[in-house]
Amino acid sequence: MKLTVRGVRSVEIEMSEPQRAADFYSRIWNLTEVARDNGSFWFRGTGHCHHILAIHPATKGPAIRRLVFDAANNDIVQSLHAKVASSGCTAEAPHALSGQGGGYGFGFVDVEGRNLAVVCGERDHADTADVRDRPRKIAHVNLNAAQLERSNAFLSDVLGFRKVDHSGPLHFFHCDSTDHSSMVMGAAATPTLNHVSFELPDLESCMRGGGRMRDAGYPIEWGPGRHGSGNNVFCYFAGPEEFPIEYTAEVLQIDDSYEFHGPEYWKWPPGRLDQWGITPPHTARWKRIQDLMLFPAGQHRL
Ligand SMILES: [Fe+2]
Repeated sequence: MKLTVRGVRSVEIEMSEPQRAADFYSRIWNLTEVARDNGSFWFRGTGHCHHILAIHPATKGPAIRRLVFDAANNDIVQSLHAKVASSGCTAEAPHALSGQGGGYGFGFVDVEGRNLAVVCGERDHADTADVRDRPRKIAHVNLNAAQLERSNAFLSDVLGFRKVDHSGPLHFFHCDSTDHSSMVMGAAATPTLNHVSFELPDLESCMRGGGRMRDAGYPIEWGPGRHGSGNNVFCYFAGPEEFPIEYTAEVLQIDDSYEFHGPEYWKWPPGRLDQWGITPPHTARWKRIQDLMLFPAGQHRL
């Protein structure tokens, strides 16, 4: 077993209108509510994680409160805690968690002030069969980095990810799973969220999801298309309060023999933005919402 995480377990977000956002993520985005308490809502996908999305009332407008990584066992939690603590980052001690889903883990602040956490789940789900049109899990999270080299080094050297591709401005990071990548980093002015990607079971679900979103007044901001690096199909949307979200499917499955390729390898012919050659360029709105969501300070404790 590798000394790293298995992927992104959950994303916690802050919304000015959490009830409205909760309605969207259950009725249109097709997650399933597992808990609500004190103005917050928790949702699962069809995969094992107790919840993959938490919505909390905002203190200062929409934001990304925290990313939670999935550890396979408590030993991984403790080993990663030792690495994070010795890197000099602010980290709480691993402890039993009393919040939704329970488990064992710790929260910390990374090199650019992001609130991250590593958790081994306790009340995870045994019923993990795919359901058409319903997200399984968080496929990946794409972050903006003001200090790209530092952020990339933190993912690799401290959290144990492996950089598997560099395509255009994006750096793709693989961890202890067969998914091509679970984290993506790109350079930007601020360490904000670029987008959160939810994995659907197949291409059909991705296309049907695009139609469901259009019907509900959420047009496709980029896609449908099939990416080069990662080979996944994609549709991007502006969710409630301009939160940037992606439906994806058919993520490339890899092992340790996967060979890294750089920007020259992944370069598209002029005018092409995906493998099929069908997606129009992303909208001005999509470009605008890719760096709106900040990590609020002081929210790293689980
Ligand atoms: Fe993505």
